[in-house]
Amino acid sequence: TTGKVALDIGFVNTASCTSAITYIDGDAGILRYRGYPIEQLAEGSSFLEVTYLLIYGELPTADQLGEFDQRIRRHTLLHEDLKQFFNGFPRDAHPMPVLSSAVSALSTFYQDSLDPFDEEQVEISTLRLIAKLPTIAAYAYKKSVGQPFLYPDNSLGIVENFLRMTFGFPAEPYDVDPDLAKALDMLFVLHADHEQNCSTSTVRLVGSSHANLFASVSAGINALFGPLHGGANQSVLEMLESIRADGGDIPRFVERVKSKEPGVKLMGFGHRVYKNYDPRAAIVKSTADTVLDKLGGNNELLDLARQLEEIALNDEFFIQRKLYPNVDFYTGLIYQAMGFPTRMFTVLFALGRLPGWIAQWREMIADPSTKIGRPRQIYTGETARDYVPVDER
Ligand code: SDX
Repeated sequence: TTGKVALDIGFVNTASCTSAITYIDGDAGILRYRGYPIEQLAEGSSFLEVTYLLIYGELPTADQLGEFDQRIRRHTLLHEDLKQFFNGFPRDAHPMPVLSSAVSALSTFYQDSLDPFDEEQVEISTLRLIAKLPTIAAYAYKKSVGQPFLYPDNSLGIVENFLRMTFGFPAEPYDVDPDLAKALDMLFVLHADHEQNCSTSTVRLVGSSHANLFASVSAGINALFGPLHGGANQSVLEMLESIRADGGDIPRFVERVKSKEPGVKLMGFGHRVYKNYDPRAAIVKSTADTVLDKLGGNNELLDLARQLEEIALNDEFFIQRKLYPNVDFYTGLIYQAMGFPTRMFTVLFALGRLPGWIAQWREMIADPSTKIGRPRQIYTGETARDYVPVDER
């Protein structure tokens, strides 16, 4: 060989860190936040309550939840100078880089409260981020459609306020559809945390250098933007639209996937951990019908998605590789029915995942033994060799 050392490496399945926040059993399709099954939280809890649970470790009493809610509502406004920030982006900017830039910029407005080891500063940064990310996300959308920004209305909760700032107009009243808010709240619960996925590991790794919460979460947003991670919900809709444009020829598309045509994957299928049905996908699928009926969604694409799933789940190629629908397979259809453009789908994923990023960052800062250590590598490059001056090469 060229001096490279060929290493016969056994696959060592080592945990990257310890954490007490979320438990996943990929083979059994189990997901629990702080011990509570996702099915029960999706059914009976709320995004605000799950945010509290993930960050503080216990379900809140009614008084604790009320106080948490009020403290968040007081921080929904952006600094007027930060609002100017959005004017610097091109009209067709994708909202995800806008989101990560604005979150990173938050650390320039709150320089007196960035110390990861000062509990009060961590608390105020937590509240600011939970309260302001929906405002930033709504403004990223308004920028992309050339509409005026709406100030937050603090008589509304997190989800309702986000919907009003996104779809409301200054010129007319906007009443948030309770079915829409309930469906989005449940989707945010399903996305709230997911152990050491790519974006959460990014938040932990950046935070392990003692970078502040805003800088760490901004890095997580960038990781989530990747089409193999959070960007998949946008890719699923584009995949379904392309199948429909091809006369709904699902078998032809499946053959393209199986032949491993470059760039052709069954988006919304497969998972690094779940080698069974993603429990979140099951919940979204079970509600998709009712939600789309209520919101007047694209049932044609939903039917296409269901046929595609049925074919894939009975095809040896996918069965052998343990490829099942993941959380992204059906969510895009619901987001579309809610009126969001596909470019906002990953922003919605970020809004849902924020509590998990914050909880995991706080856990790692509070207990350094839980941090992801500095990764090492298995070197496969050249062995040692002497420098050769340029006139001798
Ligand atoms: C999320 O980590 C998390 O928890 C993430 C997430 C979260 O909540 O944070 O759950 C959110 O990111 C969900 C995943 C969204 N991404 C997609 O839907 C994109 C499509 N999926 C794939 O890119 C893929 O399934 C991954 C990256 C998600 C997972 O890859 P794996 O399980 O590590 O599988 P692999 O890449 O090692 O592939 C194993 C085999 C390969 O074929 P062979 O080489 O064995 O012949 O399966 C094939 C792959 O080519 N394969 C697929 C496929 N996924 C894997 N083939 C077609 N379509 C797919 N979707």
